[in-house]
Amino acid sequence: MIKAFVFDAYGTLYDVQSVADITEQAFPGHGEIITQIWRMKQLEYSWLHSLMDDYRDFWAVTREALTYTLGVLGLTPSEQLFDDIAEAYNRLTPYPDAAAALGALTGVKRAILSNGSPQMLAALVGGSPLRDLIETTLSVDAARVFKPDPRAYALVEAELGVKPHEVVFVSSNGFDIAGAKRFGFNVARISRVPRDALAQEMAGGATGGALSPVTLYKALRTQEETLGHAPDFVISSLADLVRLPRAA
Ligand code: LAC
Repeated sequence: MIKAFVFDAYGTLYDVQSVADITEQAFPGHGEIITQIWRMKQLEYSWLHSLMDDYRDFWAVTREALTYTLGVLGLTPSEQLFDDIAEAYNRLTPYPDAAAALGALTGVKRAILSNGSPQMLAALVGGSPLRDLIETTLSVDAARVFKPDPRAYALVEAELGVKPHEVVFVSSNGFDIAGAKRFGFNVARISRVPRDALAQEMAGGATGGALSPVTLYKALRTQEETLGHAPDFVISSLADLVRLPRAA
């Protein structure tokens, strides 16, 4: 029996591309490339810190990734501007399907398990309309290791008191989907970038001679990974969650 729906935050409930306004405003003409490199490095650094056994929280990782990104692009912000850009991760826009879908999930626990630090998640969730629709927000910080390490997913049972087979874990992030499935959750993959739409974008970029940074990001980070741990369900909108079987 499914007792809890547990959501990834960044890219699943909240749109990481919504930092683009601030990055573009800060460095006109560079917003898109900053946004994409920043997110790619942020995740990469989370995995590297875990592998190096050198944990620091996701706020530090987010800032390290921004430092790398601006450095590689030769951009030099003031301290204030750097802080303002970094803060954008605490004010991401929820996806339009998130609030109604969460509201429809009655009779189960609704939680977030995110790499975000407790402070980041408090700002993000607390400042958004999803605040009253999520009962528990779990940060991997309690395990001092990032997803997809199994110790991060184990926080769900420890904190919510539900077994992995009683959980539907929802994510758009390929690495997170594979990690959650490998851990033992039932996994729903929300397909934020349909394969066909991406293929068309890739073909358009190829004939035009160059892929845009956002298309490259989509190709690298929004599709199902080929790591051997396929999700149980693939949905195109969070609204579909309410129709998933709960007798598992
Ligand atoms: C999160 C990132 C990994 O919310 O999307 O955990």
